[in-house]
Amino acid sequence: MVHSPIPLAPYRARASRRGSRAGIDYDNRIPIITRAGWLAGMAKLWKNGEHVAIIGPTGEGKTTVGYQLMPLKSHEVIIATKPFDDTQELFAHRTYTTQERHWGRVRTVEHPVYTVIDEWPPPDNTDKVILWAKARTTHDDGYQYLVLDEALNGIYQSGHWCVFIDDCNELVGSLGLGKPVRKVMNMGRSAGVTAVVGANRPCRVPRECFAQVRYVLSYYIPDERDTDTVAEIAGLNKTRYRELNEQLQYYPHCFYCTHRRRTVMVGR
Ligand SMILES: Nc1ncnc2c1ncn2[C@@H]1O[C@H](COP(=O)(O)OP(=O)(O)OP(=O)(O)O)[C@@H](O)[C@H]1O
Ligand SMILES: [Mg+2]
Repeated sequence: MVHSPIPLAPYRARASRRGSRAGIDYDNRIPIITRAGWLAGMAKLWKNGEHVAIIGPTGEGKTTVGYQLMPLKSHEVIIATKPFDDTQELFAHRTYTTQERHWGRVRTVEHPVYTVIDEWPPPDNTDKVILWAKARTTHDDGYQYLVLDEALNGIYQSGHWCVFIDDCNELVGSLGLGKPVRKVMNMGRSAGVTAVVGANRPCRVPRECFAQVRYVLSYYIPDERDTDTVAEIAGLNKTRYRELNEQLQYYPHCFYCTHRRRTVMVGR
């Protein structure tokens, strides 16, 4: 059953046959831009040094969106902390292929895109890394703290990296890494550091950790404190944003993308 459509037209798409080819899904009355479309939009909009926040409850697709966004930047650091995570594994399994001549025959060879490291800095000339400081027991928290503190400070000092802080609640809440995260967010922009921050409970993360965020990608949020936090980060009216959020619950895996106090698209 289709419920009342979203009152705001976040994306001025015209219903045309080109729509489906442009990655726009008209099944749900509101035009939802599917991956190819919104990614092309972000590729044009998103400048170096502009931070992105991805906010939504567990399982909505934050890591998946991060996986799609990160290749838009040249120097990528993915920060993973969980012992296992299917969607974070996607990064480790991403490959590119080359054609190589071998004994007169051309064959296709697959290479991993990312180098998986467990401490900072990465090897020389490596520009796509997954920093996966896995914690297998609770005693590993101290180890994760040291590795990630070193990495976040290193990223801030060397500049030009795009860092994906996938689980900000874990980094800031459980591991106590609020200070380096704030440094990257507050001052990274001038150093050319871009951050993509994922959070499932933004109200539990100090507001400073979302400082200077330019794009907010937000899924349906069940908790009002979190909805108000998103409105605050995105510079939107709280009551208005609550109404918008209510509509999102009928569209699984869909997010609003807000930029400079204006919702620019609904993507999936
Ligand atoms: N746009 C989409 N369409 C269909 N399925 C999706 C979409 N985005 C994500 N999914 C699926 O939803 C599941 C959860 O996605 P993902 O791990 O990215 O969520 P998450 O928000 O990072 O969760 P967590 O907070 O637990 O890390 C995955 O199986 C993924 O394939
Ligand atoms: Mg995730």
